[in-house]
Amino acid sequence: MTPTQIHRHTRLSIFMHWFNAGCWIFLLLTGLGLIQNNDLQPFTAWPVMLRQIFGGGANLLLAHEIAGSVWAGGFLIYGIFRLKSDVISFIREIFTVDLKRDGLWLVTKGIQMTLGYKMLGIIAGKFGFSPRIPDQGFYNVGQKIFAIPAVFGGMVIAASGIIMILSQVGMAGNELVQWAILIHFITVGLVFAGLLIHVFMASIAAGEQPAFVSMFTGTVPEDYALHHHKLWVDEVKNSKR
Ligand code: HEM
Repeated sequence: MTPTQIHRHTRLSIFMHWFNAGCWIFLLLTGLGLIQNNDLQPFTAWPVMLRQIFGGGANLLLAHEIAGSVWAGGFLIYGIFRLKSDVISFIREIFTVDLKRDGLWLVTKGIQMTLGYKMLGIIAGKFGFSPRIPDQGFYNVGQKIFAIPAVFGGMVIAASGIIMILSQVGMAGNELVQWAILIHFITVGLVFAGLLIHVFMASIAAGEQPAFVSMFTGTVPEDYALHHHKLWVDEVKNSKR
């Protein structure tokens, strides 16, 4: 028998997520190719190869700038048209944190994922806390910890990118551009570090496959939702009463 499914993502939010992921992959690959300084470049063959594919450094830079503009522009349009229905509720959700409950979730979930349930029981007994992993809402606190820098880091990356583009037409001063370059690099690096964990947690980690499937179908099985996002399931059920 097929398990009961609960609606989790709209078609538009699924589209925006994969649009974002596609843009990120392209921007990371082309951005890495723009670093031609051998002291900074871990893959020295990559810039050479990309320049051959794109027909030179200028075209590579143009492709990176166009993709960045499409990415930032896409989110600007989405943000304007879906501000009330999607954006505000998403921001409210990722900033809603219960320090005690979510702190304990980070500790218990971290131990369970690395050492297993048995060790979680032993460690919890030793240190006097409950081995029960606290219930979570639509997103667990780990997802929130990634989502906040992903959203605001994205804005910083877009803004610093725009400053760099403006500098090419003489509309941004040298000092501002130097800062923009530094901030662009650091922010991409920080979000990328979180992204590695996000991709692992969202698609590879044991038990997380229903979340990955939901990013295509829009629904999750009820038993998965109850296990991972019980507070959200309770909310959905209460709103139907
Ligand atoms: C290509 C690799 C990616 C995969 C496999 C992936 C997978 C997923 C999945 C399965 C979810 C849904 C989680 C749920 O319903 O509970 C999700 C949500 C999300 N993704 Fe991705 N994603 C990828 C790339 C990205 C990128 C590049 C970003 C932004 C830099 C991003 C940002 C987010 C955010 C903000 C959410 C909502 C909160 C969260 O679940 O962390 N994702 N992703």
